Amino acid sequence: MTREDPVLEAARLLRGRTDAVALTGAGISVESGIPAFRGSQGLWGKYDPMEYATLGAFLRSPEKVWRMLSEMVALCGDAAPNAAHRGLADLEGRGILRAVITQNVDGLHQAAGTRNVIEYHGNMEALVCISCWRRYPTRERWVDGQAPACDCGEILKPDVVLFGEPIPWLAQERAEEEARTCGVLLVIGTSAEVSPACDIPRIAKKAGAVVVEINPEETDLTRTVVSLHIPGSASEVMGQLIIMLRDPGDDFPPHLKSFNIP
Ligand code: OAD
Repeated sequence: MTREDPVLEAARLLRGRTDAVALTGAGISVESGIPAFRGSQGLWGKYDPMEYATLGAFLRSPEKVWRMLSEMVALCGDAAPNAAHRGLADLEGRGILRAVITQNVDGLHQAAGTRNVIEYHGNMEALVCISCWRRYPTRERWVDGQAPACDCGEILKPDVVLFGEPIPWLAQERAEEEARTCGVLLVIGTSAEVSPACDIPRIAKKAGAVVVEINPEETDLTRTVVSLHIPGSASEVMGQLIIMLRDPGDDFPPHLKSFNIP
């Protein structure tokens, strides 16, 4: 069968479902003005993650790590959700999408209105003291160009997962449960290079889900676990998908009415 329009195929696959789940990465927020980590414009092109994004680096030199973190806080603070975040919220609102598992720390899924968001790598909204465990909202303590401090004097760490830190256990449990029980997994804007998040599509596939990837580039998943790769930007593809799901009408050509992904 020729696959003329993969977005139509995805619409066909999602229509009438109640068990879709999405896994998102930095690519979904690129069109909100937050560059992805990898690639020419990425934060990891400017800052070596082994030097600036590990727990060990933070413990050795938190001021240095805050040079990188300050950029992340500023980027997240300035960003607003785009059509891809809104599209996922729309799918949840119609009962098609059950959960969004995100590696992003920008809070844009919640800002778009998605309720069931599993934050796999934490979020930028809170700062935590690694000495006395006091927590603060980031907006209360963060001033650009400075490493924010706790009342006890220790430099605060954002509530995000640095390399070398475990995934918050509840997020990991919930994400794996969603992966094991979903019918369709939408994998949007992730290079799937970071473990254990990259296991989620494999868990879903092994349990029988159809894995759909929305990414302008191919990844390691594309030829291994993905059934349908849609090579486009997240906002463009999600925008089209939502229009097709709202009004399927003649948008579904006859060959797709009988299309089934193995
Ligand atoms: P990456 O920067 O590794 O990958 C971003 C992906 O998004 C790439 O595959 C791009 O092709 C794709 N992409 C770019 N623009 C896009 C667009 N407009 N629409 C759709 N896709 C687009 O980001 P992640 O996979 O999220 O972890 O990275 C995973 C983790 O690595 C992050 O959570 C972070 C980082 O180190 C930690 O900091 C622990």
